[in-house]
Amino acid sequence: MPTPFAVVTGASSGIGLALARRFDAEGVEVVMAADEEAVEAEAAALTCGRAVRADLATEEGVDHLVAAVREIGEPTSLVLNAGTAVGGEFAGGTALSDQLRAVDLDVRAVVHLAKVFLPAMVRRGHGRVLVTSSIVDAAPGPYQVVYNASKAFLSNFTAGLRAELRGTGVTVTTLRPGPTATAFFARSGQLDTPLAARVPKDDPEEVAAQAYEAMMAGRPTVYGGSPLTRVAHVLTRLTPERLAATALGWVTKPRGALR
Ligand SMILES: NC(=O)c1ccc[n+]([C@@H]2O[C@H](COP(=O)([O-])OP(=O)(O)OC[C@H]3O[C@@H](n4cnc5c(N)ncnc54)[C@H](OP(=O)(O)O)[C@@H]3O)[C@@H](O)[C@H]2O)c1
Repeated sequence: MPTPFAVVTGASSGIGLALARRFDAEGVEVVMAADEEAVEAEAAALTCGRAVRADLATEEGVDHLVAAVREIGEPTSLVLNAGTAVGGEFAGGTALSDQLRAVDLDVRAVVHLAKVFLPAMVRRGHGRVLVTSSIVDAAPGPYQVVYNASKAFLSNFTAGLRAELRGTGVTVTTLRPGPTATAFFARSGQLDTPLAARVPKDDPEEVAAQAYEAMMAGRPTVYGGSPLTRVAHVLTRLTPERLAATALGWVTKPRGALR
């Protein structure tokens, strides 16, 4: 069995930081990837943490992370968690560059990093992969349309990978958190929505603990936080599209939205 070695993207805050801490607590070396300087202090505070600053919304950033990881070796655990949303009207004031950056981070970087690191896991006959999707993968997302579509992509992508990798010793776990108390809503410009202001949030430490356990056990899916997260996902899947979109729009609509 190779020495355990983990890579966690989006490891400077929220769910990713809590996951990096879990690996560290187990004495597992963990490469913590994020864009901003804060990741360096977070990694320095851990025993086995190693920061890599990389803008994963760019190809150069992804290549930089891959090169830094390869200097250490091949990861035994891969957590593809970095993600962001762009809150606001798609056909209104949001910028095309922001929408495309979100796709590059939420989708393109995940595909790229999985494609790079999975082959060695398969060759070794062992690997644990966790991808952070969301319960919104099942619903249309007015005022965050690209985000919901990206999470639908990730849930489908991971389900396909699971089937393809069955019997190889490599497992792929899809994490679906519900609303979680992180910097996510501030970063995505959604602080002026009922979702940010009024909807109860799960604890990122709890979400990460559940995700870590599911990933290590090789389970296909894990819902973060309270049991209501799973209930909300199941109900969303059973709800007709128009009704689901209307309900989500009530909480994602920014105060200044026109319609
Ligand atoms: N919070 C929720 O309610 C919720 C619900 C469902 C799913 N999720 C998903 O959970 C995952 C983690 O989000 P979170 O809630 O923990 O939010 P968060 O605290 O905002 O964490 C986001 C992480 O992604 C990193 N990141 C952002 N842009 C990046 C870039 N261009 N390159 C590299 N790293 C970048 C951030 O680091 P920097 O600051 O250095 O950029 C940070 O470490 C995301 O995929 C999100 O979609 C969140």
